[in-house]
Amino acid sequence: MSKKVIDLLNAARSREITAITQYMAQHYELEDQDFGKLASKFKEVAIAEMKHAEKLAERVLFLKGEPTSKPDGVAKKGQAIVDMLKTNIGLEATAIKMYNDASVVCASEKDQISKEIFEELLKDEEEHLSYFQNVKNHIDELGPAYLATLTG
Ligand SMILES: [Fe+2]
Ligand SMILES: [Fe+2]
Repeated sequence: MSKKVIDLLNAARSREITAITQYMAQHYELEDQDFGKLASKFKEVAIAEMKHAEKLAERVLFLKGEPTSKPDGVAKKGQAIVDMLKTNIGLEATAIKMYNDASVVCASEKDQISKEIFEELLKDEEEHLSYFQNVKNHIDELGPAYLATLTG
């Protein structure tokens, strides 16, 4: 089995762990600021990333590798909501680029299953990216009126 593929799966896992840490940190901060609706959506995305991290670890184990537990970045704290969204858009966009590239390598390494895992993750990351972008656009366009709908 390909060491290259195992490294890509682990790199993706590190990316997922960073996203989990970031989205959970934001979830707590938003909850604390009474933006309950936004907080619970961020929590939902964090849980999706946990499932991704788990799926990647299972594949690494199947390929006889060792799943990493290291994040590839540090969660930012104390950001304004618009900056949180910018951070998240960056995380999702990077993951999308990584997973698209990884799926090409998996194909050339003739590892169809790992390729399918990256493709499955990509579908979710594109949804996450689009969600964060939509919220940011609404805030840019409507400002406090829109933010008021995210409290609770
Ligand atoms: Fe993910
Ligand atoms: Fe994501």
